[in-house]
Amino acid sequence: MCGIVGYAGSKPAAPLLLNGLAKLEYRGYDSAGLALLEQGVRHQVSGVSKNNRAHLLIIKKAGKIHNLVSAIKSELKTDTRERITAGIGHTRWATHGQPTDENAHPHMDCGRRVAVVHNGIVENYQHLKKQLQAKGHAFRSQTDSEVLAHLIEEQLKKYPWAEAVRRALGQIQGTYSVVAVYEGEPHTLVGARSGGGALVVGWGKGETLLASDVPALLAHTRRVSYLDDNEMAVVTPEGPTFLDVLTGKPVSKKISDIEWTAEQAEKGGYPHFMLKEIMEQPRALEDTFTSRLDPRTGEVVLEGKFWDSPFIQKFRKITLLAMGTSYYAALVGKFLLEKYLRLPVDVENASEFRYRDPIIGKDTLAVVISQSGETVDTLVALREAKAKGARIATICNVMGSSATREADGVLLTRAGPEIGVASTKAFTTQLGALWLLTLFLAGVRKTMPVAELQKKAKELSRLPQQMAALLKQRKALEKIAREYSHYFNFLYIGRGIHYPIALEGALKLKEISYIHAEGYPGGEMKHGPIALIDSKMPVVAIAPKSSGVYEKMLNNMEEVKARQGKLIALVEKGDKLAASKADTVIEIPTVSEDLSPILSVVPLQILAYEISKKKGREIDQPRNLAKSVTVE
Ligand code: F6R
Repeated sequence: MCGIVGYAGSKPAAPLLLNGLAKLEYRGYDSAGLALLEQGVRHQVSGVSKNNRAHLLIIKKAGKIHNLVSAIKSELKTDTRERITAGIGHTRWATHGQPTDENAHPHMDCGRRVAVVHNGIVENYQHLKKQLQAKGHAFRSQTDSEVLAHLIEEQLKKYPWAEAVRRALGQIQGTYSVVAVYEGEPHTLVGARSGGGALVVGWGKGETLLASDVPALLAHTRRVSYLDDNEMAVVTPEGPTFLDVLTGKPVSKKISDIEWTAEQAEKGGYPHFMLKEIMEQPRALEDTFTSRLDPRTGEVVLEGKFWDSPFIQKFRKITLLAMGTSYYAALVGKFLLEKYLRLPVDVENASEFRYRDPIIGKDTLAVVISQSGETVDTLVALREAKAKGARIATICNVMGSSATREADGVLLTRAGPEIGVASTKAFTTQLGALWLLTLFLAGVRKTMPVAELQKKAKELSRLPQQMAALLKQRKALEKIAREYSHYFNFLYIGRGIHYPIALEGALKLKEISYIHAEGYPGGEMKHGPIALIDSKMPVVAIAPKSSGVYEKMLNNMEEVKARQGKLIALVEKGDKLAASKADTVIEIPTVSEDLSPILSVVPLQILAYEISKKKGREIDQPRNLAKSVTVE
């Protein structure tokens, strides 16, 4: 989704903003732009030359950030670039209007004195645009966002800068995170948020920053404040002040310290973030378990008061809410929670949940699973569940994100920043966290014998090492990728707890290689998909021997071979029977069935990565995709 960066300080703003935008590239974008406030421009007042006037410069380009960098180099002299110490930047992911130079942000008012960058959707923009046009405002773009600049221009006729922005925001319906600058107050940026994705204020020394995501700030500060809905920040080099957008009254905000380092958000010698993040999984899983899981006693400790509240003993139902890869993690979670707690567990695609009238109430624990904690559908589902009386827990990777702030209890996955658009380490740590949740609840509600808890805790604590051994197969998977990268369609099949892994394997392949891939339960094959099988259809069968449905998977594999399908089988090490049926074999270590998804997904991530690499795809930023989906 779109990225926002803002800077007010004493350093040259242009390179700093470009660097910030580059850190947000992973969110997906199709154009980029800067608004820079040039100070000390000579101008004439009553025939006298004065030196103090600020001047707003806008440079924006369709395409990648390097187009913008070239434009800035050719349009701004080096000394001008170095003199500018305040500005805003944006990477746009088109919603209203094509990805052109004109539609790129920032957008300006008629007088070219105000510039805005905006994430979200102005739902009443058509109506507002007509009203503004009737007053003589000429529009330069097809975007919904441009109305904001014109609305602010109108309000500036009556109100001072920050108040004019607040009044303009009061006129729009929809979602926004927005930052605006004004020639008349060149040191003061105004940022605000209502829905529309995160907006984070970075507290520096003699400089203040704004960004839609933490990686853009890490090089400058790790002290941040997150804007909540309907809050605004008035930002100068000396620091921010916070206001309520609806009332204009001051709001006090706490400062959080970010644990992530700037290095964690770098590629660290890997060609792609995705590969780096795949390889980091043993560390990420281990960190997620550290200080929480005691393999000796089987005890799990979760941080925060919520986990000790009486509700934890009382609830009668669990609803898991998530999207995409996080939704597939939730599907695995259903198996674990039902099996070990003997409670009904629903898994809901958050975007569907929000438009139903789901049965959920005071006896429900709603667990929201999200890497970013900013996925709009997931957040709306969270609010819907809360409004119906459920208590909310979140399994989330970003502390301080909306999901963590709105939930009653947080279980943080300690994956570190996930930059590659395709989720990998977030998924395996979500599975690890779902295990922690299961063992924790089973422990406090006494639904599992202590010996069983200890056994599972021991097995879990061995997983990071087993995963590290599995990652050594990368070379073999690269070879397999070479053999299969020319196929146009893939099927992934699995049964029981392995079915979500079939879905996740297919999603990884389709999103980064653009090869059509579908995941099915093995039992579904005869109900339709088997008609697709011929010699041009590779089928990836997830068939660990420890699985209660192993024999059934062997049957599915026979059916594929009988129709000349190309069979890639994911089997336990040494399983000669399953291997004998397949054209290609990928081995995973033998672990209990309900732990095996954490391992079996890893070779599927690598396979998708290697196939996409062969095809020369933009692996970290696949077309049409954004890292976190903050608009509907
Ligand atoms: C796929 C992927 C997406 C996300 C989904 C939810 O690789 O990354 O499907 O899983 O957009 O995002 P979060 O987990 O941030 O809510």
